[in-house]
Amino acid sequence: MILQQREQPAPVAERFYLYRAPEPDTVAWFADDVRTGLLASPKRLSPKYFYDDLGSALFEAICELPEYYLTRAETEILERHANEMVAALPGPIELIEFGSGSARKTRLLIGAALEVQEELDYHPIDISPNALILSSTGLVAEYARLTVKAFASDYVEVLESARLRTSKRVLALFLGSNVGNYEIPAATRLLRAMSASFKPGDGLLLGTDLKKDAAVLERAYNDPTGVTAAFDKNVLGRINRELGGHFDLDAFEHVARYDPRRGVVESFLVARRGMCVPIDDIGIEIALQAAETIHTESSYKFDTGDIAALAAASGFRVERTWTDADRRFAVSLLVIV
Ligand code: AVI
Repeated sequence: MILQQREQPAPVAERFYLYRAPEPDTVAWFADDVRTGLLASPKRLSPKYFYDDLGSALFEAICELPEYYLTRAETEILERHANEMVAALPGPIELIEFGSGSARKTRLLIGAALEVQEELDYHPIDISPNALILSSTGLVAEYARLTVKAFASDYVEVLESARLRTSKRVLALFLGSNVGNYEIPAATRLLRAMSASFKPGDGLLLGTDLKKDAAVLERAYNDPTGVTAAFDKNVLGRINRELGGHFDLDAFEHVARYDPRRGVVESFLVARRGMCVPIDDIGIEIALQAAETIHTESSYKFDTGDIAALAAASGFRVERTWTDADRRFAVSLLVIV
C-alpha cells in the first residue's frame, strides 16, 4: 500500500508554483514611453506594447498565416530533433524558458526529456501571469513527472534575483525568433545575463529566423488578409484605450520593409494624411505629417556567422545548429564556455 502511494505522481497542485513579481506601474511606464517615442524624431513605439490580450490573440493568429512560416518551420525542427537536442547535454537536465507564451512547442522538448529521465523541472518566465497559469496547469496535468516553477516577471529581473534556483544541467530556451526583436547590443546584453547566471556547460536553444529573399520576408510581415496590420495598429488602439488617445487607426498604413544590408525587417505605421492627435491622459498632442512614419518593430534575421558572433559576444559557443528542410529557420544549441 505504502509502495503504491509512493509510485503515484504528486498531485497537480503540488507540481505548479508561480512567482509573481510585484505589479509594476505599467500604465505609468507605457505613458512615459509613448510620450518619449512619439515626441522623438523619427517617431517610434516599442514592440513590447503589442502584447495586451488583443495583441496576443492577433499574434497567435499571425502564427497560423500561410505567409508567416516562422512558427511552422521552428515546430518542424523541434518535431524532428527534440530528442537530439535533449541528448546533446549530459543529463539530467532542467528547462528554463524565456517568453514561454502558450508553451506549445516546449511540449516537444518536455516529452523528449521525460523519455530519458525520471522527472523534470521546467521554469517558464513570461510577463503575463495569465498565460503562465493557463499553459502550466495544462502541462502538469498532461505530464505526471513534471514540476513547473513559473515566474511572471521580466527576464533580467529573474536572472538577477536569487529566486531561480537550479541544481541540474540547465537547458534554457529562447525560441520563436524572439531574440530578433532586440537590437543587436540589447540581444547581446540579454544573452550575456543568461550566460552569467548559469554554469559552464549549460546550454541555450536559440531560435532564429534566417536571412532570405526580401519578397518572402516582406510577405511574412505584411500578409494580404491584414492580420499583421491589425497587430501593428493595436499599439495605437492601446494608446486610445489606456491613455485616452484619439488615433484614427484607418488613417495609418502598415508597412514592412527588409533591409538586406542590416538583415532586418522593420515595421512602420505610416500616416495617410497630416493630423494632430491628442492623448488626453498624458496631456500631449502629436502632430504627424502625411507620409510620416512611426517605427514599431525590428525583426532581425540571421545567418550562421551572425549566430556565432552573437554567441561569442555573450559567453557562449555554438555547439550545433538544426534547420527545417527548406532552411528558413534555425534552432542553435549554444553552450556556455
Ligand atoms: C514575436 N516576434 C518574434 C515576431 C517577429 O517575427 O518579429 C512578432 C511579429 N511581428 C509581426 N509579425 C510577427
